[in-house]
Amino acid sequence: MNVSRRNFARFLGGCATAATLPMQLYDRDVAWASTYNPSQKYLFPQGFLWGSATASYQVEGAAQEDGRGVSIWDTFAHTPGRVTNNATGDVADDFYHLYREDIARMKSIGLKAFRFSIAWPRVFPTGTGTPNPKGLDFYYRLVDALLEAGIEPYCTLYHWDLPQPLQDRGGWENRDTAKALADFEGYTAGKLSDKVSRFFTVNEVRTYIENGNLLGTHAPGLKLDAKRIAQMSHYALLGHGLSVQAIRAASKPGTKVGIADNVLAMVPAIDSAAYIDAARKAMREENAMYLTAMLEGRYTDFYLKRMGSSAPVFTAEEMHTIGSKLDFIGINLYQPNYVRPDASEPGYAILPMPESFPHMLSPWITLGPEILYWEPRLIHELWAPKEIYITENGTSSSDRLTADGKIYDLDRIMYLRNALMHLQRAAAEKIPLKGYFLWSLLDNFEWADGYERRFGIIYVDFATQKRTPKLSAEYYAQVILDNGV
Ligand code: FCB
Repeated sequence: MNVSRRNFARFLGGCATAATLPMQLYDRDVAWASTYNPSQKYLFPQGFLWGSATASYQVEGAAQEDGRGVSIWDTFAHTPGRVTNNATGDVADDFYHLYREDIARMKSIGLKAFRFSIAWPRVFPTGTGTPNPKGLDFYYRLVDALLEAGIEPYCTLYHWDLPQPLQDRGGWENRDTAKALADFEGYTAGKLSDKVSRFFTVNEVRTYIENGNLLGTHAPGLKLDAKRIAQMSHYALLGHGLSVQAIRAASKPGTKVGIADNVLAMVPAIDSAAYIDAARKAMREENAMYLTAMLEGRYTDFYLKRMGSSAPVFTAEEMHTIGSKLDFIGINLYQPNYVRPDASEPGYAILPMPESFPHMLSPWITLGPEILYWEPRLIHELWAPKEIYITENGTSSSDRLTADGKIYDLDRIMYLRNALMHLQRAAAEKIPLKGYFLWSLLDNFEWADGYERRFGIIYVDFATQKRTPKLSAEYYAQVILDNGV
């Protein structure tokens, strides 16, 4: 029996010391300690892709350069009172100019992959029509520099910066927006697919539909009713499905297409068969309006029943398009929902979170590293995708520069270490996990929180653009080096 001295102490009532331990137990403990190998790690599969993620409006800046058009985020951020301290992404991390230095930093951390997004208004300044060649030029330069550094580019085609002229014509409430998205994505992927082999159609449909149009906390800042939201989200899904087809039609053979989705992450509150079954049901039903529809090409019966007269209007052909087969699934994971079985339909209940439940600096990031295990597992059991990526995971922290010029972001390291332990468990159970993208490389424009929430493993002084790697960057570099935790 391998037990640590700590366990012995607890076993004996918590007050025993080595001197008072019964000799037999103490000897066994010492024997165990001598075989303990402190460098032993929980390893990830060979070739596991360690990456980091960013998004165009959050890092690029250069808002008026090289013919870039206006997006809904420019409009929103420039409307007083929308973003903390009225911050905007006009300059952000100035990644548009500093990307080469940042790629050198990625290289020194050991990143194998980098997930970035394309600003739609750089490529099509008004959303549709004639492309702006200078817009794509930036992404050619970025991709070339990544490849030179041995870092694989993973490209998100839409991460929320909808061209303003499309919003003026109704945004996602207008079915034509779905078509415009697919035209933009097909065109862009076609141009990049010589060098980029993985594309995500969109990032987090739920967020840009619900935060932007139901809660009004994100661009375009609307507060519409449930029926309009359901129809909008249907058109957003249609845009995703049409884009899958457009990307495939325009790209080099072998190009792979997937999604980066923020599933509502379900965790069985207790590890029993009944709770696990409830979590699986919850995973499917709580995501019925988004990932489930994309993976099954249908809305679940329970979702349609629950929505009643607010359910979206759709055709069989649209559902077929929405269900276009994906090569991989990316999930963005930040916060857990704990589930128990329930006798009534649909067979589960989501438990209320106690007030005392711990959270990170951003209150919405409640702790729950188990999501890194349970979500890949539940998705694998429900839909068996060929490849699963964690396309985002990370946390904000109160990061302060100390007198020695360092940032000791121990809470971020704690968050990551725990998350990765659970992810390793999923990988060890042979769930087809291919990679992990830490959110984020740099502190950046955190949407409605402006620059008040730092998510980077590299600290950015926004007044000078000086970068300082935090302790978490060193931690992550070690994880990558060891391919383990
Ligand atoms: C995700 C977004 C990403 C970032 C993180 C913190 O929902 O996709 O852009 O803001 O949250």
